[in-house]
Amino acid sequence: MLAQIKIGGLMKDNIILIGFMGSGKSLIGRLLADKLSYRFMDMDEKIEEQENCSISEIFTKSGEAFFRELETNFLKQLKLNSKTVLATGGGIILKEENVKQLKALGTVLFLHADFNHIIKNLKEDTTRPLLMGDDKEMTIKRLLDEREGIYLSSADVIIQTSGKTPDHIINEILSLL
Ligand code: S3P
Repeated sequence: MLAQIKIGGLMKDNIILIGFMGSGKSLIGRLLADKLSYRFMDMDEKIEEQENCSISEIFTKSGEAFFRELETNFLKQLKLNSKTVLATGGGIILKEENVKQLKALGTVLFLHADFNHIIKNLKEDTTRPLLMGDDKEMTIKRLLDEREGIYLSSADVIIQTSGKTPDHIINEILSLL
């Protein structure tokens, strides 16, 4: 049984999705919100709207540290009504204060995808600035190594997604509510 729940089946009213790039946070988030008649919010999209600029452009023009500040400021100002599914960017867990804020906002659910699943999803991707270097696979491996433990320790609920259809994943999440 890979789905794991640490909070005794009691989900708070907002669901916060964390996980590595390409783990399906936006897709699963939209489907889940739809099923629950919750509102869906994608943090990266909100930051792009706010800055009137793509994430790639923000990285190129102002660098990663600036983007991380945008993420933290966005979260600080975010007031969620209940019944929202929030998909976060993969690096949101890099700052402890972000994780604290996410936990205050809702139940933090980690979509855990394995390396092969992530590679498959991101092979052709050109929108993730952190993966635009020479060796995408090596970069993914390194970032996964750096982050895996933080995702795990930040999560209230862990859902294994590799090899599962979106429907299967949604049903697994719904069964925990
Ligand atoms: C990032 C993940 C991206 C985006 C940015 C940085 C990361 O979001 O926030 O490119 O550091 O993992 P997704 O996880 O939605 O791809």
